[in-house]
Amino acid sequence: MNPIYEKLQNCLKSVREKTDFVPKVAIVLGSGLGDYADDIRVVFELDYGEIAGFPVSTVPGHAGKFIFGFVSDVPVVCMKGRVHFYEGYPISDVVLPIRLMKLMGAEILFLTNASGGINKEFHAGDFMLITDHISCFAPNPLIGANIEELGTRFPDMSEIYNKELADIIKESAKEVSVPLQEGVYAQLTGPSFESPAEIRMLRTLGADAVGMSTVVEAIAANHCGMKICGISCVCNLAAGMTENPLTHKEVQEAADKVAPLFKRLMTASVTNFKKVL
Ligand code: HPA
Repeated sequence: MNPIYEKLQNCLKSVREKTDFVPKVAIVLGSGLGDYADDIRVVFELDYGEIAGFPVSTVPGHAGKFIFGFVSDVPVVCMKGRVHFYEGYPISDVVLPIRLMKLMGAEILFLTNASGGINKEFHAGDFMLITDHISCFAPNPLIGANIEELGTRFPDMSEIYNKELADIIKESAKEVSVPLQEGVYAQLTGPSFESPAEIRMLRTLGADAVGMSTVVEAIAANHCGMKICGISCVCNLAAGMTENPLTHKEVQEAADKVAPLFKRLMTASVTNFKKVL
């Protein structure tokens, strides 16, 4: 068996020894957005450390557990804390949790993150519906022998972020009066923030926001047939757009400030996903 697939199966076995909960929606909470988990009617929590072979996050603000439960009556699994490539894990480990949630039963993947705004119309604290992404600065997680059990060698990427889910998120944002921008998210590896020249380059390439996650997860999820959507919380204007140096603390504080709006938007969106489940 492919060793990456074997590890995935071992993780699944480890999860199934603890819970038989079957989620329909998988949610990944970005930096500073972990408090959303408080809005879930929790059935079971599983620390990443309890799953054999699971990569455990080291970033402050990323607690590191799966939360199983319900948003309205939609069964969800929520990652409080994700794994980043810059932590030093192989890219196959970075996307392992996504594949694991698919194998648990999740059909929809709802990705969230904190980002730096590149689009000059954006402000710190804006939410951006992710309509597309730029992946070419992070290693592709599908490199290596294809895992046929998960998906095809050359997956189509012409609609990574599902239009039907995007429409539901837009309607939901209106319903709960949360303003929503739209745009293209670019992932760089981090952990250093970008230089002003890199931000100008990304703007020229068509990126509206930049961060250090999400894109590789979307590639793996698309490969294994999940329906994907994403919201980025623009926590700061990107490097060179203001006089201020960037800090992780600033990112977390900005995310904290908009947490109530984020909760409203997430809950309304997941509740409305019932239309397609
Ligand atoms: N750059 C990269 N990642 C980020 C940023 C940024 O400006 N803000 C929050 N995450």
